[in-house]
Amino acid sequence: MIRSPLITVITDAVMKASRALKRDFGEVENLQVSRKGPGDFVSAADRRAEQILREALEKARPGYGLVLEEGGVVEGTDKSHRWHVDPLDGTTNFLHGVPQFAISVGLEREGQIVAGAIYDPIKDEMFIAERGKGAYLNNRRIRVAARSDMADALVGCGMPHIGRGDHGRFLRESSVIMSHAGGLRRFGSAALDLAYVACGRLDVFWERDLNSWDMAAGIVLIREAGGFVSDTEGGSNPIETGTIACGNETLHRELLRLLKSAPR
Ligand code: IPD
Ligand code: CA
Ligand code: CA
Repeated sequence: MIRSPLITVITDAVMKASRALKRDFGEVENLQVSRKGPGDFVSAADRRAEQILREALEKARPGYGLVLEEGGVVEGTDKSHRWHVDPLDGTTNFLHGVPQFAISVGLEREGQIVAGAIYDPIKDEMFIAERGKGAYLNNRRIRVAARSDMADALVGCGMPHIGRGDHGRFLRESSVIMSHAGGLRRFGSAALDLAYVACGRLDVFWERDLNSWDMAAGIVLIREAGGFVSDTEGGSNPIETGTIACGNETLHRELLRLLKSAPR
C-alpha cells in the first residue's frame, strides 16, 4: 500500500464524496418507478459529489488548479499542478440503478499525470497509483494481465450513443476486434474500465471521445501496473486527443494494429 501524504489527500477526498454518492444511489433505486425518473436527482447528486471533492482537494492543496467535469476549469495560483476530477463516472448506469460507477481523481504535475485514485463505492474497491510507487487495489499490488494472444483476451470498449461519437467507425472497429478477441465488453464506466485493465480483469480497452477526467487516474494506474497506454493511433498523449488504447505491451500493440486495419 502507498502511504504518501498525496495519496492520503486523494483517498480522503474520494471516500468523503463516495458516502454521499452511495446514499444517493439508494434513492435513485426508489425514483426509478416515478414517471419523471431520477434524471434531475442524479444531476444534483453528481454536483454534490463534485462539491465535496473540490472542497476537500482545495483545503488540502490550496492553489492547485482543477479540471472538473461539472464545474469546468478552475485556474490555480500553482501553475504546475492540477486535479482532473470526475465525481461520477458511469452516470447512465447510476441513473438506471446499475451498480457500476466510480469516482475518479487524477493529479497532473508539469503536464504528467503523477497520481490518481478510482473508487467503486458499491464494491468498495479503491484503485490507487502514484508515479514510481506502483498500483494497488485496496491493499494488494496489481499488475496488468500477462496474456499475449488476442484470441484469449477480454476486450473492453466504450460505445457511442445518441448524439455522441462516430457510430459507423465504432461498428467497423468493433467488427474487426470481435473477429479476433476472446470476448468484448461495454461496462459503461471508462474510469473503472481502465482500473480493470490495470488489475488484469480486462486485457485491453479502447475508447474515443473521452475527457481528461475520465482518463487521468486510469493512465497512471495502468502505467504503474506495468501496462502501456496511448491514444488510438499510438501517440503518447491520450488526454490531448481524447482517445485511449491500453493493455500489456504485446496486446496493446496488437490492439493498435487491429484498429488501424479497420476500414475508415
Ligand atoms: C462516461 C463513461 C462511459 C463512457 C463515456 C463517458 P460519465 O462518463 O465513462 O463509460 O463511454 O464516454 O462520458 O458521463 O458517466 O461521467
Ligand atoms: Ca461524470
Ligand atoms: Ca466520465
